[in-house]
Parts: sequence; structure tokens; C-alpha cells
Amino acid sequence: MAFAEQLAELYDMEFQTQKALEEMLSSAVSPTLRNALHEHRDQTIEQTQRLVICFDQIHEAPKRSRCIGMEGLVAEAHEIMEQAGSPTQLEMDMALAMMKVEHYEIAFYTSLLTIARFLDLPRVEDILTVNRRIEEDAADLAQELLGEMLHHAMHPEKQFRW
Ligand SMILES: [Fe+2]
Repeated sequence: MAFAEQLAELYDMEFQTQKALEEMLSSAVSPTLRNALHEHRDQTIEQTQRLVICFDQIHEAPKRSRCIGMEGLVAEAHEIMEQAGSPTQLEMDMALAMMKVEHYEIAFYTSLLTIARFLDLPRVEDILTVNRRIEEDAADLAQELLGEMLHHAMHPEKQFRW
């Protein structure tokens, strides 16, 4: 598949991520989770803008092409969140969904980085690397949050940390 087509799917992935983060934000209550979702939503907007430069580098107009992988993750997140039995469970489900989304994004960026390197597109490579780093940090943060939530769920006698 052509690089431009893959880039169009990656571009769509970021728009889908932005929407998913906004949906989770409307359901999140704890300040720590809200801050994480809010910050990453803003970063996602910047990532999308950065991808426009990648299209420019390959002389293509920015275009979205359906990212089926992210659609699947978002559908799964909706289903799990609908089944959450409590607000605490819902927040854990959101942290888990965020982790899975970030790891999918890392995988997609890594794939495209491999192709960009092969095609000798250094500027594209730089941008994809910057965006991937942001996903890695977001994945680490989501993992940390989920760990804290699980810790609290296992030790409810300890004070809530957020
Ligand atoms: Fe992300």
C-alpha cells in the first residue's frame, strides 16, 4: 500500500483519537484522569497539525482515510465503558482504553517510520518520531494511572490519591 494512503489512515487515526479522548473527558471525574485526558487531547490536535507537514513533504494534500484499527478500539472502549458497574470501574476502563489506544498509535507510527526511513524522507521521519514520543509518554501515563486505580481498588482503606 502506498505511503500516502498509510499516512491518510494515520491522519484519520488522530482525528478519531481526539474524539475518543473528548468523549472520555466528558465522563471522567477524578482530576488526575481528567488532566491526563485533557492534556493528551491538546497534544493530539498538535500531532494532527504536524502530520499536515508530512503530507506537504510528499506533495499530497492532507486526506483522511478510514483507520479501521482505531475504529475497532473505540468501539471496544464504548462497549466496555457501557458495562461498567461503578464510577470507579468506569475510570479504570477509561485508563485501560487509553493505554490500548496509545499502544496502537505507537505501533502505527513505528510502521510508518520504517517506511519513511526506507523512502529517505528525513523530515517526515522527524515528525513521526516526535509524534510517537508523545504517544509513548501518554501510554506511560495511562499505565501509571491504571496502576494507581488498581492499587486503590485493592487497598480501599488507604486514602484516595486524587
Ligand atoms: Fe495518542
